[in-house]
Amino acid sequence: MTQHQRLLIIDFGSQVTQLIARRLRELGVFCEIRPYQSVTDAELRENPPQAVILSGGPDSVTRDGSPRAPQALFQLGVPVLGICYGQQVMMAQLGGRVEAGHHAEYGRAFVSPAPGHALDGIFAGLFQDGREEVWMSHGDRVTALAPGFAVIGTSANAPFAMIADEARRFYAVQFHPEVHHSPNGRILLENFVRLAGFTGDWTMAGYRDEAIRLIREQVGDGKVICGLSGGVDSSVAAVLIHEAIGDQLTCVFVDHGLLRQGEAAEVVAMFRDNYNIPLVHADESELFLGALEGVSDPETKRKTIGRLFIDVFQKHAAEVGGAEFLAQGTLYPDVIESVSFSGGPSVTIKSHHNVGGLPEKMGLKLVEPLRELFKDEVRALGRELGLPAQFIGRHPFPGPGLAIRCPGEITREKLEILRRADAVYIDQIRKHGLYDEIWQAFVAILPVRTVGVMGDQRTYDYACALRAVTSVDGMTADYYPFTHDFLGETATRIINEVKGINRVTYDITSKPPGTIEWE
Ligand code: XMP
Repeated sequence: MTQHQRLLIIDFGSQVTQLIARRLRELGVFCEIRPYQSVTDAELRENPPQAVILSGGPDSVTRDGSPRAPQALFQLGVPVLGICYGQQVMMAQLGGRVEAGHHAEYGRAFVSPAPGHALDGIFAGLFQDGREEVWMSHGDRVTALAPGFAVIGTSANAPFAMIADEARRFYAVQFHPEVHHSPNGRILLENFVRLAGFTGDWTMAGYRDEAIRLIREQVGDGKVICGLSGGVDSSVAAVLIHEAIGDQLTCVFVDHGLLRQGEAAEVVAMFRDNYNIPLVHADESELFLGALEGVSDPETKRKTIGRLFIDVFQKHAAEVGGAEFLAQGTLYPDVIESVSFSGGPSVTIKSHHNVGGLPEKMGLKLVEPLRELFKDEVRALGRELGLPAQFIGRHPFPGPGLAIRCPGEITREKLEILRRADAVYIDQIRKHGLYDEIWQAFVAILPVRTVGVMGDQRTYDYACALRAVTSVDGMTADYYPFTHDFLGETATRIINEVKGINRVTYDITSKPPGTIEWE
């Protein structure tokens, strides 16, 4: 664990808990998100955080057995901010009253200042225009304040929209300051962390130095292997580890024959040539494409690729000899065990491909230097480490690669057509300056041929679909609203430049109900 001033976010299961962490990290504050039931009184007393935020959540504090915060929290003497459900929990635990609401508020609301309260401390800078636009999402509401609290702001349906017990530095709001729809929520959060004494010591330069020290400490003179995919996470992890331990690191890059145009060469050039990082380039395309012959079921494709990937990786890792550690680009969102109220494991929509299970199988210990970072922080760290901007800003690319962008049977011919179409599409997006606005863009080649006419000739070629989405984390996504001109120009270029495609469509499905990839 890194040694920073630490803010603890106790998660009651709100959809937007991660956003609280995002906002705080932007302010240079290191924070941890923990499910409410995992935080104990004893732990809080032994290792108190510098401040605590209680998140929102879907339950009702009026229900018997509903979630509560550890009571010791309120005796630590540290500032506490309750948001939505977090506010109601504070009232329920500190002697106020909450009632199941007949006055639900969802969406935009306005909070006005209550008369007679100085707007300083956590509220400094608010109400400049008389009232604050905020985003509400609550059914229950506080109806009587706990002793010591005063009303700072009210909305039409939340008489206690902003409350505070300044002496104990306890604050609570009914709305969500962490979402963009509460435009000045950021001011409130910033005031809160300043008031709690945070100095903004969470910087990427500091993180890099500390991560290097920790890697050296963990690895000693042992050997580390790292599976490179060419994606941002594994690349940043590899460069960071290499800075820490030099040639004790070997990277293994498995080319499964399902990469994009020029991708394998790019990855090899970047690591071997630019960084001098020992790299095993395992061209196993024959093996993978052979095993995928005749396979059209998406899950069978994924499982086949996942299984082979592990075998191949293991074989090449063994050749490196004597490695004790496996490096992975695991990120914080993969580590957070968010509170789930869905009950029971969620359905498997797709088997995601990763090297899970490998460490136990090979008796390797994990090195995960990005475990505390969000995706955009990994990019910032990459910049800090001097990785080329183009590399850092790359769209995510799935482990199973083009296999899941080629619905139906995969053939070498289709893969080649797909690669060329994809390259034209991405070139178009870059030329129009749209690449960085888009979370992910790619072409899928469809398992249908359609009739067309080019010159005086009839054509009978494949149709393809363009996909482009905006997203924050890949969990939900909206299709990107290209202009008709852009789409028309791109379709013309693909059909003219890519032999084998005579029809281009644009996928306008959001996620949900669609997924980003086609399989
Ligand atoms: P879906 O298609 O599930 O994708 O909406 C969400 C995000 O995950 C990526 N993705 C994968 N990434 N291994 C990966 O490393 C996989 O098996 C995999 N499947 C999907 C997808 O590209 C998108 O960014």
